Amino acid sequence: MALKITFGNFKGGVGKTTISCIVAYILAERGFKTLHVNFDLQTNATMLLGNTFPYENSLFAKKFPKKNQDDEFEFIGDYIKYEGATTVYQALVQKDLKSAIVPLTENLDIVPSSIDLSELNNLGTKATEKMLLKTLIDEIEDDYDVIIFDPKPSIDLHTTNTIMASDYVIGVLKTEVDSFEGLSYYYLDYIEGLSKEKQELCNEDVKLLGIVAYQFDKSDTIDNLILEISNEDERISKLLFKTIIYYRKRIKGFRSRGISRNDIHDKKAMEMFDDLTDEILERILKDDNK
Ligand SMILES: Nc1ncnc2c1ncn2[C@@H]1O[C@H](COP(=O)(O)OP(=O)(O)O)[C@@H](O)[C@H]1O
Ligand SMILES: [Mg+2]
Repeated sequence: MALKITFGNFKGGVGKTTISCIVAYILAERGFKTLHVNFDLQTNATMLLGNTFPYENSLFAKKFPKKNQDDEFEFIGDYIKYEGATTVYQALVQKDLKSAIVPLTENLDIVPSSIDLSELNNLGTKATEKMLLKTLIDEIEDDYDVIIFDPKPSIDLHTTNTIMASDYVIGVLKTEVDSFEGLSYYYLDYIEGLSKEKQELCNEDVKLLGIVAYQFDKSDTIDNLILEISNEDERISKLLFKTIIYYRKRIKGFRSRGISRNDIHDKKAMEMFDDLTDEILERILKDDNK
């Protein structure tokens, strides 16, 4: 049995993809066999993780050799971008998630996504459509310690499928008004509703593990105000992680350079995510001990 976690908020551009990829990267570094599932039509997660690891001499290159020897792929992400790979949507159609799993390192696998995932709405019946992903995850979860989902920001089948497949949801609260409203007014109720529905459907629930204040800029008045309001909000404050992830240009830069701990600035940025990962694992352990 793997731990299954979704990083979510109804709002886009808050940092869900970045945080889900970096936490997956760190868990794999720590020896957890980790799978990151990109469940957004945008391929951001596939590219962020894919562009973190060189293609040549990789496990991936053994499984996916070049079709033409003259091709040059600096990163695994380049290969996926130009040569393609089985997408999560194709795997859903074929009812075989394994066919879409690609290895990045010994401990880190991903399931890439692409625009075809927009067809998800046509795949199931009313009775099965919310559980499509869970049904396939059930078949492969024993191969992993942790499975992380990165959904698209919406109240549609994409988000619902990742939440139904998860044990835990982590809310990503960018310290700005829209992100706060997206999370506090709708998202928390939505998770509670889905948890009840999941109980009825398969006798399992999904819990909101916590909320992370994200892309915080301590020199900005609005950021400070949103953090203050969040700390005073009864429902949100008890869920907030102690670790705050600050706005850092280095993290934005990971999108083109890949995730790294190369120099002191990368290392400092990554330390925030190390602390967050510690807290996530502590909370899960406490929950399991109950
Ligand atoms: N801590 C951070 N500091 C600065 N920029 C960040 C940080 N986290 C993410 N970003 C940038 O914010 C933008 C949105 O992030 P992304 O993870 O794609 O959000 P979402 O998945 O919620 O749409 C991207 O350009 C990303 O590089
Ligand atoms: Mg995203």
